[in-house]
Amino acid sequence: MKKTPIEVFSDWVDLGKDHGMETNHLESVENMLRFSTENLQNFNFIDAGCGNGWVVRKLASYPNCNKAIGIDGSEKMISKAKKIDSRQNYICSNLFEWNPKEKVDLVHSMEVFYYFENPGKLIKHIYSSWLKNNSRLIIGLDFYFENTTSHSWPDDCGITIMKLLSSKEWENLFKLAGFKKVKTWRVGAKENWSGTLVVTGIKKN
Ligand SMILES: C[S@@+](CC[C@H](N)C(=O)[O-])C[C@H]1O[C@@H](n2cnc3c(N)ncnc32)[C@H](O)[C@@H]1O
Repeated sequence: MKKTPIEVFSDWVDLGKDHGMETNHLESVENMLRFSTENLQNFNFIDAGCGNGWVVRKLASYPNCNKAIGIDGSEKMISKAKKIDSRQNYICSNLFEWNPKEKVDLVHSMEVFYYFENPGKLIKHIYSSWLKNNSRLIIGLDFYFENTTSHSWPDDCGITIMKLLSSKEWENLFKLAGFKKVKTWRVGAKENWSGTLVVTGIKKN
């Protein structure tokens, strides 16, 4: 029987597979962070679907980062994050059911947004309730239409929800939510792998 994304990733913690995501996602995440933090001073940051929190810890070490928060729906991922690091903020919640006390300058997310039945609704929620004016959402996705190698993942991993959208469809969801200066690019493409699709935009009232 298939499992929900949160059940599958909780199993990954038990199997010690959470650390493998840091290794596999590092090149793409470094590319995304270089772009998104380039012109920021004294910024507050959220990692949406932070897993064991490795990106939160990375950001917390940036001298210009005031506050880094990680949020994930898996209790096991959040317990692991807190065990590794007791100083940063790690919160267990479904991304739809949580809002930050204060809006932030940058929301980052790697390999999370296609685990939602309606990713457009999540993008709108983050736009309205998490981001300040003139702030950025940036997401990385390895499961998307043009990356045909990834099409078998829902069956390979036995996961209930995995939304397969094209690069253009992701771009349009950002535009529909109200984001400006929407850009997409790919990181790490090679033979039989189209690379991580990065989608980003700015909230400007
Ligand atoms: C592929 S992992 C990526 C983790 C992390 N971003 C990384 O790169 O290591 C996807 C993460 O999304 C979380 N997730 C999936 N659906 C979620 C939801 N509805 N609300 C919150 N987190 C969710 C899972 O628990 C898992 O930790």
